[in-house]
Amino acid sequence: MPETSSVIAQISPSNMEGWEVYTEAVERRQQGQSITMLAIGDHDFNTPSPTVEACKKALDEGFHDYVDIQGVPELLQAMAKITTQISGLKTSTDEIVATTGGQGALYAGMQAILDPGDHIIIVSPHYVTFPATARAAGAQFTLVDAFAEDGFEPKAAAIRAALKNNTKAILINSPNNPTCAVYSRKTHELIADLCIERDLWLVSDEVYWSMAGEKHFSPRSLPCMRERTLVVNSLSKSHGMTGWRVGWLTAPPQVVSHIVQLNLVSNYGLPDFISRAAAEALDKGYGVEEIAATYKARGEALVDALKETNCVRPVNDPGSMYIVLDVRDVTADGREFAWKLLDEESIAVMPGESFGRSLNGHVRISLCVPEDELKTVAEKICRFVANYSN
Ligand SMILES: Cc1ncc(COP(=O)(O)O)c(C=O)c1O
Repeated sequence: MPETSSVIAQISPSNMEGWEVYTEAVERRQQGQSITMLAIGDHDFNTPSPTVEACKKALDEGFHDYVDIQGVPELLQAMAKITTQISGLKTSTDEIVATTGGQGALYAGMQAILDPGDHIIIVSPHYVTFPATARAAGAQFTLVDAFAEDGFEPKAAAIRAALKNNTKAILINSPNNPTCAVYSRKTHELIADLCIERDLWLVSDEVYWSMAGEKHFSPRSLPCMRERTLVVNSLSKSHGMTGWRVGWLTAPPQVVSHIVQLNLVSNYGLPDFISRAAAEALDKGYGVEEIAATYKARGEALVDALKETNCVRPVNDPGSMYIVLDVRDVTADGREFAWKLLDEESIAVMPGESFGRSLNGHVRISLCVPEDELKTVAEKICRFVANYSN
């Protein structure tokens, strides 16, 4: 076989980096083992039925065709409207491009602003795909850690210290996966000041906006940031639509035009009927409040159950879809903990190491089973910890 491109070969050098426990759990499930799957942020409930009905109606009405590559006009309008609402900044459709989920927005955004050899700073703990998405653009990256004692908010001085001559962008994620940290306006302002001073792009991943309520802040709304911020968004979490693959990027119109060309040569736009259903779901807010309330209640239930037994310490307040446990009293290695938990209790969680150094010796639990099952999970984890042998 002739050689593959060097860029594609190094997207994920260790193949599925960080996802190993999850992929093994999926395999065991396929072989018939009963696994409690708490490793990824996928809902255990269906998409709200009005969204499903809107999709069926769109199919019945014949929305089966190629669409405008930027997005069908109704969808772009709905995305612009919700962006205005989230950010407080009047946003127009020429600043929006519909993408295949939030991941499609991340990919397109990085392709649009990074050349091979450019450098991007990724604030960590970070969503698992961030490094690979930078590598897919041929870029180098530096992870800048945020720590539990600062509520997992990054320090601008640490970001400044990591800047290089070829740094082009900073990537942040608030509300954060995995820590659920919601960065304050002040933290955003300090990062924005750096971007302006050093003429950098800011990529702001806001896919969990609906779960932070009033606390969510979009840095694109800060002075002089509209022209240098790319906001990643998605209906996956907020609207219970992970499998529909609908997201969007908000960016200056020139960037949007470039990404339309990228989509022309990659996906040629989103499916027609899905776009119609997504537009209605966004406009009507189907499921948004209920989903946020469900995860908040689940997070509180799990934290309460763990506090009662006092066997491992949750390090974050219930926020979006995750609870992170500090397991260092048991083992310094979150991967070892996660593998053993899978083997001994058939519970799949994500090792903290998948999200960056400051979560070494931690694990992340996705709140993707009902409350009563989470109480059983807490009991099993405590039994597991009590019997833990290195
Ligand atoms: C922070 C963050 N960004 C982006 C994504 C990707 O979202 P989507 O499923 O819409 O592609 C996820 C998914 O878990 C995420 O947690």
